[in-house]
Amino acid sequence: MQYIVSDFSSTVEVPETGIMREEDSVEIPGYLKDIEKILITENCIKARLRGIANEINKRYSDKDIHCVVVLSGAIVFFADLMRALSRHGFKVTYSLIKLSSYSKAKSTGKIAVEMDIGRVEGKDVVVIEDIADTGLTLDHLRNHLLNEKKAKSVKVCVLFNKMTKKTAEVNLDFIGFKVPDQFIVGYGLDFDQRYRELPFVAVLKS
Ligand code: PRP
Repeated sequence: MQYIVSDFSSTVEVPETGIMREEDSVEIPGYLKDIEKILITENCIKARLRGIANEINKRYSDKDIHCVVVLSGAIVFFADLMRALSRHGFKVTYSLIKLSSYSKAKSTGKIAVEMDIGRVEGKDVVVIEDIADTGLTLDHLRNHLLNEKKAKSVKVCVLFNKMTKKTAEVNLDFIGFKVPDQFIVGYGLDFDQRYRELPFVAVLKS
């Protein structure tokens, strides 16, 4: 039974059963045979996105930020977020960065920059990431941006923070949802490069 949420102004904690808004349907489209349940509906994501944009708006009075978007999953989130920010009059510039893959990092515990960005020296940077799990990726990226790229400031915005013990303690400045320790797909998150296009977040059948 999904938990009904109406307030999206701050981080929403998602129980294992999932969340929805009163008016939402959680019917799984028939062609998606591998999906067990919808964890976060499309409407909930949209509502929380507006909430995150409000939070960012309160934090940056000059409405001028440079976003560093972590490939590949975060582009879906960022595409919607920057349009939500434009409604507050933000001037958003961005660059894309690619870090070594999650599976590789999990086995080695090390992260590497595979495709770097150009100059962000002296800029207020907001890192845009889809999900934080161990925290290793974001920890590495924050250090990279501050120490090597000489950003003026770095804040981190994640859509999903997995409720797992973090290997690296990284400060998450803006968090969309706290999600249970389940393997989730959709809205940019993949399993073997699939399901990124889904407008909701779902749990796969095991
Ligand atoms: C995922 C996710 C984060 C990272 C989080 O990336 O997008 O970048 O793992 O994990 P961590 O907190 O344990 O470091 P992945 O390598 O799966 O890349 P993708 O975005 O291309 O799917």
